[in-house]
Amino acid sequence: MTSEQGIDEQAVFHNRIGAHNLAALWVGRRGVDLTRPKSPAVAARWHYDGLREELAEAGHIVTAQEAFRRVLVLENPAFPGEMRATNTLYAGLQLVLPGEIAPCHRHSQTAIRFVIEGTEAYTSVDGERTWLHPGDFVITPNWAWHDHANEGNAPVVWLDVLDTPLVDFLDTVFRENYPAPQQQISRPDGDANARYGAGLLPVGYQANSLNSPVFSYPFAQTRAALEALRKAGRWDDCHGLKMQYINPATGDFATPTMAAFLQLLPAGFDGALYRTTESIIYSVVEGRGRTVIGDRTIEWGPRDLFVIPGWHGHRHAADEDAVLFSVSDQPMQTKLGLWRDERPGDPTA
Ligand SMILES: [Fe+2]
Repeated sequence: MTSEQGIDEQAVFHNRIGAHNLAALWVGRRGVDLTRPKSPAVAARWHYDGLREELAEAGHIVTAQEAFRRVLVLENPAFPGEMRATNTLYAGLQLVLPGEIAPCHRHSQTAIRFVIEGTEAYTSVDGERTWLHPGDFVITPNWAWHDHANEGNAPVVWLDVLDTPLVDFLDTVFRENYPAPQQQISRPDGDANARYGAGLLPVGYQANSLNSPVFSYPFAQTRAALEALRKAGRWDDCHGLKMQYINPATGDFATPTMAAFLQLLPAGFDGALYRTTESIIYSVVEGRGRTVIGDRTIEWGPRDLFVIPGWHGHRHAADEDAVLFSVSDQPMQTKLGLWRDERPGDPTA
């Protein structure tokens, strides 16, 4: 409102109360469209070849011991310096060279690993080792001791995805180093998979974590599942064949904050437009194709990485049979009743 003297009384008022750490909602929200999400993150892609060269260079200039974790972080171009691939997810590529150990620690963030190259390294989680092979999906639950080691002759590289931005936002960051470089192993290799991942559960099983008790999902099993399922020929218009990694004890997401998926797009697949409130990080395992995100087309091939921010309409197309691994923040949203998606034909689309 403007006074008879031509003074904007609301602006004067707003400026005055600002000095007292107050704000007028009707001014702050003026002109802001709150009818739908508008993620400040942008679609982005990292070609693996270029990334791998930089990672090799990192291997020359810093040891795993010195770096603690030798990781190149995927930063969303909209958030330079913030170590976020999307609004809610951290992602990075970690390199462990032959003979190296990434020392043992634990923290309140949950981590997901997806192995990209290397066959003779292992990660230990809460007293059990699991050997890493390309395509394996491994969980490090929050506050679980974990260390990594490469006992082979070739480098190992995997994708790390963590819920760090959320844990930071909630002021719940804790971290602790183990008193030795590697933790004590208390269970034989394969114990968790045999105990919880064979369609059986121990009688009287009581969960002591919100994470899946199966902490390693071997690619040999998940890839074979996709291959068996393709024979049914039931393709989703938007997703092709998309399977979710689950906690077998509950049927819920594999971790309480992040969902992970493995997806097969058959050669020639031309997907329908889809959008969802979750933000997604993709790691291409096999095949070539493209994903159109808004007005941007992202061409991808084996080992490339790309991100789709929340509520950005997108469609996948595959030139050849393609397998895509992805991680999203869907559980953070579904547990709060906030998650939505939309596809052609939906009443709201
Ligand atoms: Fe860690």
